[in-house]
Amino acid sequence: MIKLENQKWLEKAEWIQLIEGRTEQTSQFLFERAREIRNRYYGNEIYVRGLIEFTNYCKNDCFYCGIRKSNQDAIRYRLSLEEIMECCATGYALGFRTFVLQGGEDPYYSKNRMVEIISTIRKQYEDCAITLSIGEKDYDEYKAYYQAGADRYLLRHETADETHYQSLHPQSLSLENRKKCLWDLKEIGFQVGTGFMIGSPNQTSQSLARDMMFISELKPHMIGIGPFISHHKTPFSDEINGTLEETLYFIGLLRLLRPGCLIPATTALGTIDPRGREKGIQAGANVVMPNLSPVSVRKKYDLYDNKICTGDEAAECRNCLTQRMQNIGHQIVISRGDYKGE
Ligand code: SAM
Ligand code: FES
Repeated sequence: MIKLENQKWLEKAEWIQLIEGRTEQTSQFLFERAREIRNRYYGNEIYVRGLIEFTNYCKNDCFYCGIRKSNQDAIRYRLSLEEIMECCATGYALGFRTFVLQGGEDPYYSKNRMVEIISTIRKQYEDCAITLSIGEKDYDEYKAYYQAGADRYLLRHETADETHYQSLHPQSLSLENRKKCLWDLKEIGFQVGTGFMIGSPNQTSQSLARDMMFISELKPHMIGIGPFISHHKTPFSDEINGTLEETLYFIGLLRLLRPGCLIPATTALGTIDPRGREKGIQAGANVVMPNLSPVSVRKKYDLYDNKICTGDEAAECRNCLTQRMQNIGHQIVISRGDYKGE
């Protein structure tokens, strides 16, 4: 851990040793270091992102995901431009200065439609960041989004191990293309976020070591990790969920590896433990992402079972998180919350 903190780089065997050396004691030591490093960059400030889940149509069939195209039981929806703008207006009034547009890979939202959505938000909310999380596109499409005013892009690599990647996705998807997308996004100028699930089926210390090494190489600005949680209508319905302890440990490790990174305490973490998001912050995270989607569609963006906050209005989510953060000595701030670190 000391070497990781000082050199921000480890060999594969060293990663494996660190991953397999997780105990209550090493975890507590790690979280202390992680908090100190996070505070150096961000103090006790927590950034909020307003998540707008604008479509649950998806042309992909990822084995872990509840909105995969083969799930015939999913009730599909799309938000119109007007509905998206209403989410932004609600969010702005609540103090959000970053909007995250997330969805399945939905061909209905063509390049032109996305450009229209992005530029409309950009025109109306000059002081806000626009983050996209809509999967794999080609270079020109990403470039068009950037030119329309999008600032950030979230695309988890999911796993940096080839064999593991193929066990989580159908043949049509490849790790190679996922990585290419991330490099393209960086080159274009986006603040880029990647990440992976903890405890996804077939994950090993080896594959996790590769995840950490890929992150060392990519140097993303944001890193999202959360536990894998099974969904009853997927091929992984009987698989075991990722654990709170392991997820927290990786949040700590990522803070040491990438000290100035924006790291959320995710909704999935809040789903496997009632205080998961608070614990995520105490392990080194500095971002929370409450939901801004209309309550009428919340339950339909059903990535995994028992997802939290599906019945709450945006204001309730915002207030709930403000209180939760205050209870642990942190403060949610009204800010775009840009990347500060190296
Ligand atoms: N379609 C976009 C993409 O592929 O990046 C964004 C939407 S996708 C649903 C967002 C993230 O949800 C994925 O990157 C994945 O890591 C996470 N996710 C999907 N199914 C999950 C599950 N069963 N448990 C935990 N996280 C899951
Ligand atoms: Fe496309 Fe999950 S399979 S978003």
